[in-house]
Amino acid sequence: MANAHAPATGHERIETSNFLMIVLVLLTVIVGGIVEIVPLFFQRSTTQAVEHLKPYSPLQLAGRDVYIREGCYNCHSQMIRPLRAETLRYGHYSVAGEFVYDHPFQWGSKRTGPDLARVGGKYSDEWHRLHLTNPRDLVPESNMPAYAWLSAATLDPKELAPRMRALRAVGVPYTDDEIAKAGAEVQGKTEMDAVVAYLQVLGTALKP
Ligand code: HEC
Repeated sequence: MANAHAPATGHERIETSNFLMIVLVLLTVIVGGIVEIVPLFFQRSTTQAVEHLKPYSPLQLAGRDVYIREGCYNCHSQMIRPLRAETLRYGHYSVAGEFVYDHPFQWGSKRTGPDLARVGGKYSDEWHRLHLTNPRDLVPESNMPAYAWLSAATLDPKELAPRMRALRAVGVPYTDDEIAKAGAEVQGKTEMDAVVAYLQVLGTALKP
């Protein structure tokens, strides 16, 4: 049995000193984190867009902003995990290359409603309009809020160009021409048109 009064050595010295313990734990976490995370920045499979991924069109982009403003992410995730129960229900699991133009990404983690990562093309535009106007008309047991006012709110065409320039600054490849034409593309469209356009493109870049 060790003598309780002997001077502390090695591990015991670390475990009995708050200062040493905190510093060494931090160091371990930092080094471990760097080793795990930094290689992802340089790995093509996590930074390269999947083949059919296109930057959001101005209308889709406006819809994405409405999605964020209305807090849809509080009830809907946009990330299908590679588990059988998920892929059977939602389709192919999500891959990093589908999200390289998403700033910020909308993966979320709360699923009061279903995951929306592959909802694009699942329903008609008309279904989405009716559903967003009053979810209970289509799904009687739904507890999703109604967003009827989106049909009455017209988009402001002036807002698009600055948003697209900001996204270009973080790597989304919009051309000057696309940015110049953005306002005209959303002229007279409503927030409802925009959200539906956004929902319809979700998950469609990855062709199985
Ligand atoms: C309070 C939670 C909640 C919020 C907030 C919410 N939803 Fe939902 N959503 C649900 C639930 C629950 C369902 C499943 C029942 C249904 O289809 O209405 C659903 C279903 C959906 C569906 C159909 C998905 C499918 O695969 O059948 C879409 C699309 C959708 N929501 C879009 C949206 C959008 C866009 C917003 C924001 C404008 C939003 N939701 C906000 C709870 C929510």
